[in-house]
Amino acid sequence: MGYYIRPAVIKDVVKIRRLISFYAAKNLMLPRDQNYLHKLLANYSVAIANGQFVGTCGFRLWQPDWLEIVSLAVKPEFQHRGIGTALIQSVINKGVSLGFSYFFTLTLVPELFEKFGFKKIGFKKIAFKAQADCRHCPKNDAGPGRGSCNEIPLELKVCA
Ligand SMILES: CC(C)(COP(=O)(O)OP(=O)(O)OC[C@H]1O[C@@H](n2cnc3c(N)ncnc32)[C@H](O)[C@@H]1OP(=O)(O)O)[C@@H](O)C(=O)NCCC(=O)NCCS
Repeated sequence: MGYYIRPAVIKDVVKIRRLISFYAAKNLMLPRDQNYLHKLLANYSVAIANGQFVGTCGFRLWQPDWLEIVSLAVKPEFQHRGIGTALIQSVINKGVSLGFSYFFTLTLVPELFEKFGFKKIGFKKIAFKAQADCRHCPKNDAGPGRGSCNEIPLELKVCA
């Protein structure tokens, strides 16, 4: 089965939202609404296999020079074929082309990111992210990395 990664386009938004909602219902991802995805559309990539949408990944930019990898998801029936890895690679490539060298993510699947050289970090290192977002998170009942929060922060420094 062949697949390719391309930038997301407006007609992908509904499919991206549905896939993220599917995993959010299983508590594996945070839900993202149509408005959020519409605003960040240019930051998203999608994977296409057999002519259909099968996965997505996006990024957010933080001051002064951090790029956060977000919304990584591949449809269950298309997993374990390297699509998740290819989506991460495409976002890293995009970030590098934009001049970013500090990447981070919050994930339940650190193994996948460690293959790229990502290392686990404490939430303190990305306090800007925790301050901006964690208070809106349904898993935040005892602070970042505590209580119901099972997200693992990782970072990657790419040498220019
Ligand atoms: C995580 C995810 C995107 C991986 O997509 P994928 O296309 O299967 O990824 P790849 O084929 O490139 O790599 C798969 C590897 O990732 C790792 N991996 C994937 N899911 C894993 C999990 N739940 N636990 C541990 N390792 C996992 C394994 O090393 C796996 O290797 P294998 O195929 O030999 O078993 C996909 O499983 C998914 O959509 N999961 C649900 C949503 C989610 O958890 N998103 C991550 C939020 S950051």
